[in-house]
Amino acid sequence: MRNLVLTCGSGAETLARRISQISGSPLAEVTRRHFPDGEQYVRVCGDVKGKDVAIVQSFAFSPDRLLVEYSLIADAVRGMGCRRVIGVFPYLAYARQDERFSEGEALSAKVFARLIEASGTDAVYTVDMHLHRFQTITEVFRIPATNLSAMPLLAENYLQRAPDGRVLVVGPDSESSQWVKAVAEVIPSVCTILEKERLGDREVRVSGISGSMCSAALIVDDMISTGKTILEVLKKLKKSGVERVDALVTHSLLVEGAYSKLKEGGMNSLITTDTIENEHASVSVAPLLADAFMRDSAVDR
Ligand code: R5P
Repeated sequence: MRNLVLTCGSGAETLARRISQISGSPLAEVTRRHFPDGEQYVRVCGDVKGKDVAIVQSFAFSPDRLLVEYSLIADAVRGMGCRRVIGVFPYLAYARQDERFSEGEALSAKVFARLIEASGTDAVYTVDMHLHRFQTITEVFRIPATNLSAMPLLAENYLQRAPDGRVLVVGPDSESSQWVKAVAEVIPSVCTILEKERLGDREVRVSGISGSMCSAALIVDDMISTGKTILEVLKKLKKSGVERVDALVTHSLLVEGAYSKLKEGGMNSLITTDTIENEHASVSVAPLLADAFMRDSAVDR
């Protein structure tokens, strides 16, 4: 990719270096600091004139600060005369607020997309975006946008470590059926989709587990935040006599000690990616993203 230059925000430095190594595209370094009052400063160092610049940024943990950082980098490379700005967001934030659930709420998913577009972004790539009430990413963004899936890679990874025999693939809620389907295409399995009721930020109720169980189950979801969703399913599966329960998710936010709580609850293993840097990632999405750039005719090569 001769005319593609990568650069990155502080949310995805390690991943951006991996993508650069795999794709052979150079990585323009970014100097960052904060002014004494908390405002951010960035300076991009590299030759981007006339080139497509892919800015890799994951929006985990402090999405607001990371969005401003992304916008500053996008403006910097525009100022340096780049041809196009491609936003590469392995983890896209604010996607779960995809409806005004109550009067007076913001439609955050669209607001976040509008801010990305307003930063001068020409195209977007992301991975396993939380699509629920919006069916496709193109309903959220007004610019070309691609939603890749890490589910086949995660499923392959599970197969390498899986026990012999049948596995029950479990989705905690209706929106998880898309990810369960993708996993079931790789793993020969019986699938079930449960019902989830969210009672609060840290409280969920899950129902729908019944009948005879396999000895092994795999809980599939797009993300773990507090871990409550997976934990509730895990508890129910264990109570039903399932011996081995693994969890497979793309985005591991793992806040408030979620991983320890899941291990204490009897989770055998967590199979996850590096869309958000975390010590449990066994699958990198770097090849997936590098490959997508190579196949995208819109990227100037
Ligand atoms: C929401 O429906 C998502 O797909 C996840 O199930 C949810 O965000 C997980 O959050 P937590 O780990 O806090 O239950």
